[in-house]
Amino acid sequence: MEFRQARIKDIDGIKALLRKYHRDTISDEDRPDGFVTTAITDEQLTELIEKEDGVTIIAEPSESGPDRVLGFCFAAPWEFWSAWPLFRHMIDIIPEYEFEGEKLVLSDTYQYGPMCVDRSIRGTGAFEKLFFTSLHQFKDRFPIMLTFVNQINKRSENAHTNKAHMQTIGTFDFGGNHYYLMGIRTDYSE
Ligand SMILES: CC(C)(COP(=O)(O)OP(=O)(O)OC[C@H]1O[C@@H](n2cnc3c(N)ncnc32)[C@H](O)[C@@H]1OP(=O)(O)O)[C@@H](O)C(=O)NCCC(=O)NCCS
Repeated sequence: MEFRQARIKDIDGIKALLRKYHRDTISDEDRPDGFVTTAITDEQLTELIEKEDGVTIIAEPSESGPDRVLGFCFAAPWEFWSAWPLFRHMIDIIPEYEFEGEKLVLSDTYQYGPMCVDRSIRGTGAFEKLFFTSLHQFKDRFPIMLTFVNQINKRSENAHTNKAHMQTIGTFDFGGNHYYLMGIRTDYSE
């Protein structure tokens, strides 16, 4: 398995994994272990890869065709995310929160997520490796990474707290859902 930045040729694999674990298309069997709610168009995914270098993947190389994508996470500056209502709300409220005793400054931060790991490799350490590969990719651009976790997604909350060592900064509500706002320094080392 390789942990690397995605290229345009990986888009079909990323979309296949997103379809498998998206709220609208996930199987009933997989639903209790969490699902992705953010939708992304082909144009947005292309921009995320080409302009932001913001997609980190777990790729299983194949001799006969494109690599199989077994995990992905997205990350980008807030300008990119401002097309989504949830992220516009986060942009508005982030300056109200403190991280490690200091007021958050939007321009010091970027947003990571959604992320997804194929069921076949969950709980194996693959999530942590994917997470830290993405985090360190942004180390020279921003000091702090922020994300949101839906409070009903306990598996994601536990993974980000216990495996990724993210801190819960606060909570917020949007669209009838309850979220944790979480953060971590990009120079964090395990
Ligand atoms: C979220 C996700 C990336 C985490 O990766 P993972 O490999 O499953 O994470 P891990 O198994 O290493 O860690 C999950 C933790 O939650 C625990 N856990 C597992 N199932 C759980 C459940 N139903 N409720 C609460 N905790 C649970 C695990 O035991 C583990 O904690 P522990 O090791 O301290 O015991 C992965 O589960 C996933 O892709 N889920 C579907 C998509 C999704 O929900 N994405 C997040 C929202 S965008």
